[in-house]
Amino acid sequence: MQNISFDYIENELKKVEEQFEKHLITETPLIHKVAEYVISSGGKRIRPILLIVASKLCGYDGNDHISLAAVIEFIHTATLLHDDVVDNAPLRRGKASANIIFGNEAAVLVGDYLFAKSFKVLSDINNIKVIKSYSDATTLMAEGEVKELVKTADIKTGEKDYLDIIIKKTAVLFACASEVGAIIADKEEKCAKKLYDYGLNIGIAFQLMDDTLDYISDKEFGKFIGNDLKEGKLTLPLIHAIEMANQDEKEVITNIIYKKRLTSKDLRTVLSLVKSYGSIDYTISKAKDAIKKAKKNLDIFPDSKYKNSLIDIADYIIERKL
Ligand code: IPE
Ligand code: IPE
Ligand code: MG
Ligand code: MG
Repeated sequence: MQNISFDYIENELKKVEEQFEKHLITETPLIHKVAEYVISSGGKRIRPILLIVASKLCGYDGNDHISLAAVIEFIHTATLLHDDVVDNAPLRRGKASANIIFGNEAAVLVGDYLFAKSFKVLSDINNIKVIKSYSDATTLMAEGEVKELVKTADIKTGEKDYLDIIIKKTAVLFACASEVGAIIADKEEKCAKKLYDYGLNIGIAFQLMDDTLDYISDKEFGKFIGNDLKEGKLTLPLIHAIEMANQDEKEVITNIIYKKRLTSKDLRTVLSLVKSYGSIDYTISKAKDAIKKAKKNLDIFPDSKYKNSLIDIADYIIERKL
């Protein structure tokens, strides 16, 4: 998010980073080692930024937003640790993923630690509406990841199933981050609902663009392209292409999805079908629709630099390269 300036929360973001350190002090150094490896490898911090900016938009002037922002990034980090094991992902944020460096066992268990620690911090803050928001989000995220696993290599996966998966595995955490800003500011329920829907829609767009970048990113992305296809994951570019393809092409795609090892020729074949059926453009247009919906939810808030930041974040999601 290099082009958006968050100078006015720079100090708060620094405090969030300090909290990561504090929560990682335990008697078992491997926890710190693994978590620190991922956390300090340069994530965009989009979820903590959302939470802090949303809280300011709603007039919050306390201190809990710092811990809550740290928690949202902890939960995100936990899901990345688990997700890279599930997806056999070799690369995360441009570096070898934690499962490659430390092994699947350590990645899973440290992910568990981050989840557990997150709920300890939340219980100390002791706001039941906040706890409910985080627990609803994490429950749905786990469900989304499981549903995606079940749908692996299922060529009958349709757009509706796909949308349900991405809402659960990705968008609900964005929704939680934005909504919690309004909850801690004690704003009326209507504001929390609008911010939830804003977050949900930018989250949908975020995953749609991520799945697009998995096909077309040339650099910066920090993850290998083609990993979704390799893992038999049917994302919208592929789902759309399968729908449009003729019988022969459907067979070609199906054989590639079922293959144990993907060659670069396989990837090129699928990519060319995906491109020729306009499936990349189709996916991007869906992401743009979601961004439009997201921004509409901000209409009830008076103009401010905070509202402008939320609009900038929404626009960035379509432009992002990493
Ligand atoms: C990656 O999220 C996981 C998805 C939801 C696609 P981010 O792209 O926000 O990850 P980092 O934290 O910036 O690396
Ligand atoms: C992102 O899953 C959502 C979660 C991590 C829960 P993906 O598997 O699509 O994301 P990347 O491509 O690994 O970042
Ligand atoms: Mg993954
Ligand atoms: Mg995954």
